[in-house]
Amino acid sequence: MKILLLGSGGREHAMAWKIAQSPKVEKLFIAPGNAGTVNAGENVSLKADDFEGIKSFVIANQVDMVVIGPEDPLVKGIYDYFKADAQLAGIPVIGPSKAGAQLEGSKDFAKGFMMRHGIPTAAYKSFNGTTVEEGLQFLETLQPPYVLKADGLCAGKGVLIIDNLEEAKTEFKQMLEGMFGNASATVVIEQFLSGIECSVFVLTDGKNYKILPEAKDYKRIGEHDTGLNTGGMGSVSPVPFADKVWMEKVENRIIRPTVEGLAAEGLDYKGFIFFGLINVDGDPYVIEYNCRMGDPETETVMLRIKSDLVDLLEGVAEGNLDERVLEQDPRAAVCVMLVSGGYPQAYGKGYPITGIEDVEGSIVFHAGTAMKDGQVVTNGGRVIAVSSYGKDKAEALAKSMQEQQKIQFEKKYYRSDIGQDL
Ligand code: AMP
Ligand code: GLY
Repeated sequence: MKILLLGSGGREHAMAWKIAQSPKVEKLFIAPGNAGTVNAGENVSLKADDFEGIKSFVIANQVDMVVIGPEDPLVKGIYDYFKADAQLAGIPVIGPSKAGAQLEGSKDFAKGFMMRHGIPTAAYKSFNGTTVEEGLQFLETLQPPYVLKADGLCAGKGVLIIDNLEEAKTEFKQMLEGMFGNASATVVIEQFLSGIECSVFVLTDGKNYKILPEAKDYKRIGEHDTGLNTGGMGSVSPVPFADKVWMEKVENRIIRPTVEGLAAEGLDYKGFIFFGLINVDGDPYVIEYNCRMGDPETETVMLRIKSDLVDLLEGVAEGNLDERVLEQDPRAAVCVMLVSGGYPQAYGKGYPITGIEDVEGSIVFHAGTAMKDGQVVTNGGRVIAVSSYGKDKAEALAKSMQEQQKIQFEKKYYRSDIGQDL
């Protein structure tokens, strides 16, 4: 079959790497892809939210399935766009409908959904421009730190965690006044939960589901989780505390009620669900939902899926995921992200990258790279993910640390402690 994968980051390179291993795949296209995805398929110069362009390409190239990497096209309704078009309706899109994607696209919707289905999450209230006073009063009833969340998509920047009440009030008002544009026209204020986070991923056909290997990502720029938040500096899978007992709680209290809740509310959902969880004294709570895979979690999760991913995606498309097999690789996987100095604040682009071809035994996924005059150059803050297997996470980390030394670019920076806190 011919598959079109949308997106251009490390997540998409990891998905492309896994999809390309399937004997079922005759041709893989990645739109727009990056300088690394060309090793798994053919890059197509189309933006992931150019629905018209994607339509023409899919028809001209007889694409059999479209897999969506990032949230943007899903929240904008690419699934519905295909369904509503006579020429595209028969081509499966792996990813939820616009209504289903609200799990990520609207935090207020996600919180309401969890309330309706008894899914454990932090207590909350939502406010808008007409309920500013109520919001300020609600803040007074809470203990610090205060958690303020913009309702809509903010490229990972819409959550503020503030220790001081007066500062929280000021930021709350500024959010409603447009700090994140329309995305913060509604603000969710919620209870702060203390614990360790874990990302759990599920593939669902809307009725059946498979639980993929879990992972933990490392968001802070500095070693030992210090400094500014980033898109993610690395990941590890498996996560030791996500043992059989904990995962049973996750499945019974969170995953099953979510999949059943989506069906009960008539929300069409055939794709990945990302559960951002926090472990509070042994009990899992949902911090957030995403309607896609995580980045950089995918750069370890894909290593730990032993089965044919395309077979599972076919199960999603055909509604018979229960007949497919998902086998996990028992080894540990660690991903170390090489980033451009200055990130997540201002950083340069276009630095030549050398040594990628010398890496042995680790898997290199490109995140922010491009080709310029026949040379791979940096093209983003997060540049390259170096993922490795090991008998345990220490061995996998050691491998990534050893191999990443071969890859050089100006102002390269990374964290050397991925997975070590667990
Ligand atoms: P999000 O953008 O929703 O992933 O939130 C960013 C980060 O804020 C999460 O990964 C958590 O580390 C933190 N966070 C969000 N909500 C809460 C909460 N209720 N309690 C504690 N930390 C939170
Ligand atoms: N790693 C978190 C995310 O992809 O949102």
